[in-house]
Amino acid sequence: MRVLVADPIASEGIDLLLRAGAQVDIDAGLTPSELCARVSEYDALVVRSETKVTADILAAGKRLLVVGRAGVGVDNIDVDAATQKGVLVANAPTANSIAAAEHTLALMLSLARHIPMANASLKSGRWNRSEFIGTEIRNKVLGVIGLGKVGSEVARRAGGFDMQILAHDPFISVEHAERLGVEMVDLDLLLQQSDFVTLHVPMTAAGGLPLGSEQLSKMKQGAMLINASRGGVIEEQALYEAVDSGHISGAAVDVFAEEPARDSVLFKSDRIIVTPHLGASTREAQSNVAVEIAEQVLEVLNGRPASHAVNAPI
Ligand code: MLT
Repeated sequence: MRVLVADPIASEGIDLLLRAGAQVDIDAGLTPSELCARVSEYDALVVRSETKVTADILAAGKRLLVVGRAGVGVDNIDVDAATQKGVLVANAPTANSIAAAEHTLALMLSLARHIPMANASLKSGRWNRSEFIGTEIRNKVLGVIGLGKVGSEVARRAGGFDMQILAHDPFISVEHAERLGVEMVDLDLLLQQSDFVTLHVPMTAAGGLPLGSEQLSKMKQGAMLINASRGGVIEEQALYEAVDSGHISGAAVDVFAEEPARDSVLFKSDRIIVTPHLGASTREAQSNVAVEIAEQVLEVLNGRPASHAVNAPI
């Protein structure tokens, strides 16, 4: 069992693979052509989001049985090409939901209380309290677009802050929403009524996404938006313009259409908080993700079905 780990994952996952008798090579930062040249020697390839697993790489992987995505989103993997080649793609869908939900809450509170701006202002020598009057989130309406694993954890926690929660998700049952104390509504109503809107949808989402200027114009005057899902689910220029015009009073963005984001229109506004795709970046989540993906890879290499295959049945 030869496994190539092409993006860094936590040592707990590597140890699990080694204990199971796999030969593991860790080689992060390979160029696409270097990866094409190397991948033919391996039965399994493990990546996070940095490595793009294209049709060319899959074609070069002559003995590849499984691609393991140490995380949730598989938008960096050509899943259709993998399916055609009979390569199983598995992800780690449960391991980092809490980290992503907590980061979302941190971004919402940072926006509501201007924390990054106040921090920068104080460190530049200004003691200015009146500039940073915040907003309480208690009794405010939170609109959750995408009530899957992360969206549900966000809703559960927001309830603890006494927020009223609306959600839009065509794939989620009303019973699940009721258990969370969430009211399911259509996208327009959610945009019109929410004081905070948070996105938790995959890149392939249906249902009116990506959000562009038309949807953003439906948001409540002065509302705020948080995106810790995928950059491509919102038009960045339209978001910048909505904030710049004052229609949206602030936004917090953890994910970008192009990553790593060295430059972005969103960097131009002081009222947009940005973080470099840190949603899953906690010690706990990285350890959980590494173990969960190692387990998936080992299942496949041992001829058993992977419980988190995204393209099964092949
Ligand atoms: C995920 O899809 O799991 C998160 O966005 C974190 C990551 O890309 O590693």
